[in-house]
Formats: sequence, structure tokens, C-alpha cells
Amino acid sequence: MTKRDFLAMEEWSPEQIDGLLALARRCKRGEISGGMAKKVLAMVFMDPSLRTRASMETAMFLHGGHALCLEPGKGSWTLETDVDAVMDGTSVEHIIEAARVLSRYADALAVRVFPKGTDWAVERHDETIRNFARYSDKPVINLESSRRHPCQGLADALTLEEHLGETHGKRFVLMWAWHPKALPTAVPASAAIAAAHLGMNVTIARPAGYDLDPDDYTAIGDLASRRGGSLQITDDVDGAVDGAHAIYPKSWGSLAHFGKPDAERAGRDGKRDWRLTMDRMRRTAGGKGIAMHCLPVRRNVEMDGAVLDSPQSAVIDEAENRLHVQRAVLLELIGSH
Ligand code: CP
Repeated sequence: MTKRDFLAMEEWSPEQIDGLLALARRCKRGEISGGMAKKVLAMVFMDPSLRTRASMETAMFLHGGHALCLEPGKGSWTLETDVDAVMDGTSVEHIIEAARVLSRYADALAVRVFPKGTDWAVERHDETIRNFARYSDKPVINLESSRRHPCQGLADALTLEEHLGETHGKRFVLMWAWHPKALPTAVPASAAIAAAHLGMNVTIARPAGYDLDPDDYTAIGDLASRRGGSLQITDDVDGAVDGAHAIYPKSWGSLAHFGKPDAERAGRDGKRDWRLTMDRMRRTAGGKGIAMHCLPVRRNVEMDGAVLDSPQSAVIDEAENRLHVQRAVLLELIGSH
């Protein structure tokens, strides 16, 4: 049987994603225990994490399995990612051997690998996570790569359904936010894909020069229209938040200046008012729209502390839902339910 990987939400059919969300709701209601006895998940974190690592370890434990976690360069060998590399530099082991070996020990691999920030024309192909999948005999779960964070997207979808009830036709605003660093586009793209999956009218509010990759707009727009929603892109942030049902402030770096940090930083100058404030929350639908974020969030930079501490904040529910959706992904890929 061909193995299945979970690398991007849109690579699974809408029916399969709905199935995962239904399974996650059953996990959250306490209707499923066991299902992964003696199963092992091998996690490779090339970049840091709080939620992803803690929730994956918890998910495996709750269902009777075990998760091991490797941090290359911190207790496990530094990993080379370039398939054609002549390895006479600092990397000791190649991801090709790492994936092949770990798939002999474990029932699934889960990998976090952020973009290196050098050349978007190269990094947009998401080769490292895809090579892990290519060289592993076992399913590979993407824990955030250059292009996608599908477990976060699933958690965003579950949170939107829980807070909004019927989502079709409601307004989801992905709002670019200022940040002191240029961040990747995986989370914002995945959040918009999640909202598109739910048939929402998605608005991406971003300043000029901060477009997502054109393929992301195609993926979001195509999915939204197939599911009865729409995609709009604007630089009018206050117009976008008017009547919104959910606002997702998130920073990302300009792809036009990817790999050129000085030019990229200069592009962010003067944009600190791209921030989710209580004034903007009051403009949402009935003044009751929800505020979302994947976390970690920079308080009073991306989103005001007053918003995070308000009843309209869904960010802690969203973080909890990471656990339940990942239980569903793991049960679907390597467990029984
Ligand atoms: N949202 C998220 O992936 O959190 P971590 O980076 O802490 O894992």
C-alpha cells in the first residue's frame, strides 16, 4: 500500500479534511482512547517550538504510543539538506540517511524545518520536507516547513467552527502585522487555506510588497470558490476588518526581498500601525469577531495585550486544538479509530 504523508492541507481531499476535523472533535469530547499502542513517532525539529513539540508528545502519550524528539545540532548530528551536497563542511549526516534510518525505528516521522532565508526561488519548492517524505518509508507529517503548517491550519479550522458555528459565507481576515523580524509565510498561507476550506469569504489585508507566493493565492482562491467562499486581497486594513467574523493578524516577510534582510527591514519601516487593536476589534461583525493567532505572538506588536486578554481572543483554544487535530492525524495515519 502507498504510504500517505500529511504535508499540506490542500493535498488531502476536502472530504478527508472534514474526516480529520470530525475525528478531532471526537478526540476532544473524550470519545477515543488508545489506538496507538506500541506506535512510535520520530520527530525531527530543525527549528524551535513550544506548542508543536508539546502537543505531539502529548498526543502520542494519550493514545498509548511514544514520541522521540531529535534536535539536529543539539544532541543529534547536524543534518545536510542539499541532496547534491559534497559534505566537507559542518553537517555530519544527510537527511537521506536520517529519514531512511528513522523510518526503520518509527511508524511515522514528523519534521519541522523553516526556510533558510536565502533564495525564495529555491525555497518555495519546499524540498527539505518533501525529501524527508521521499526517503522515508513511513508517513511524514509536516510540523512547519517553508510553505505550509498543515497541523496549524487544521487547528485554525476547528477553532473557527467552534467559535463561529456555521462558517460558510462568513468573513475571515488574514491581516499582515508588523514584526521586528521577517517571518515565513507558511502559517498565514495555511490559515487562509483553512478558512477557504470552511467556505469563508477570505480577505488578505497586506501592504503593497507583502503578497504571499502566487501559488498560495491560487490554492486559497481555488479552494474558497470550490467550497462556496471567495478570496479578496487589499491594502485597506481598516476596510478589511469592518464586519469581519475572524481576524488573524500575522507577520510575514516580503518575498520580493527574500534573502536581502536590509531591504526587507526597510520595507517594514513605518508600518507599526498594522497591529490588531481593540479599536479594530470593535469594527468586527457586531463588535464580536474573534481574534486568532498561531502563537507565539509578540504582545503589543502584532496584537495588543488588551485583545489577547479579551473574551474575543480565541488564541488559547486554537493552541489547545493543535493537540486534538494532531491526535486525529496520527490516528488516521498510524493508529486505529
Ligand atoms: N504555532 C506553533 O507552531 O507553535 P510553536 O512554534 O511553539 O510550535
